[in-house]
Amino acid sequence: MQTYLHGRDYISDLDFSKEEIETVMEVAFDLKRKRALNEPTPYLRDKVLAMLFFFSSTRTRGSFEAGMAHLGGHAAFIESKTTQIAHGDTPKEIGEIFGRYYDGIAIRHVDWGIGNKYINDVAKYSRVPVLNMQCDIYHPFQCLADLMTILEKKGRDLRGKKMVVSWAYAASYQKPMSVPQSLILQMPRFGLDITLAHPPEFRLMPEIMDMAQEQSRKFGTRFEVVDDMDKAFKDADIIYAKSWGAMVHTPDPEEGARIIKKYESWITDERRMALAKPDAIYMHPLPADRNIEVTDGVMDGPQSVVYDEAENRMHAQEAVMALTMG
Ligand code: CP
Repeated sequence: MQTYLHGRDYISDLDFSKEEIETVMEVAFDLKRKRALNEPTPYLRDKVLAMLFFFSSTRTRGSFEAGMAHLGGHAAFIESKTTQIAHGDTPKEIGEIFGRYYDGIAIRHVDWGIGNKYINDVAKYSRVPVLNMQCDIYHPFQCLADLMTILEKKGRDLRGKKMVVSWAYAASYQKPMSVPQSLILQMPRFGLDITLAHPPEFRLMPEIMDMAQEQSRKFGTRFEVVDDMDKAFKDADIIYAKSWGAMVHTPDPEEGARIIKKYESWITDERRMALAKPDAIYMHPLPADRNIEVTDGVMDGPQSVVYDEAENRMHAQEAVMALTMG
């Protein structure tokens, strides 16, 4: 176990070593067990987390806020638009000043080409841990919850299991590519073979692809890229299909929306799920565009683990907060 995480930031998935992620998982499972037994877990009594949001959230806000309360502390919900950021407070001000008020600073900033830089700039000036609640490049806490869910559903030995990370059509908005990028970086370390599926215009960042392929080589797993959703689903153990925007192809949202429209057939439905193994699980970080991105039948069906996945956000985040902010 690598337990000395005190004071560390968690901004990108590979900031923690594999052994450190294993520690996070052990602590997260322990916290989940304790919550089921109604045992108190006051590891962060009197500590306060700043949660700075530049973008909306259901799960991230709820799970961090509840998590801090379960740990005996408090989380302050701060929307960027209610601050003086628009009037001149730079990342330096946020890092310096929030770092003196709070015991941790969590930030969600998904603007393309801006979010990750902003979070790293705050971290440069902060004396307390900075946690990435999702940026334009990574969604590391979602990925920890996903790993925890896969370990629960598929067992501790994941070697040889096929995980599909697939693009899916959605009409609501151009979603960040942070979830698939975090998944392809983290999951090979735990033995999963990755099949990444997307139409040509929805490729991920080249530098992330290089890093993911390097992780696969290092951990002796398979990594393939296909442009056919059916082919990807065949014999899969884990289906993780969600939409993301064509930001690498075009930063123009209107052109992005036009491109997306071409791929309306990329939906996770019952026919496609039947191509995967009979015991395959369906995962999605939510929110999902129901009956556009995924059918109700799949989302509410027996293979779906989306609500366990959402619950595990809280346990995984509590683990990282207890380890870094304690
Ligand atoms: N999965 C996830 O991050 O959900 P929210 O956008 O609701 O926080």
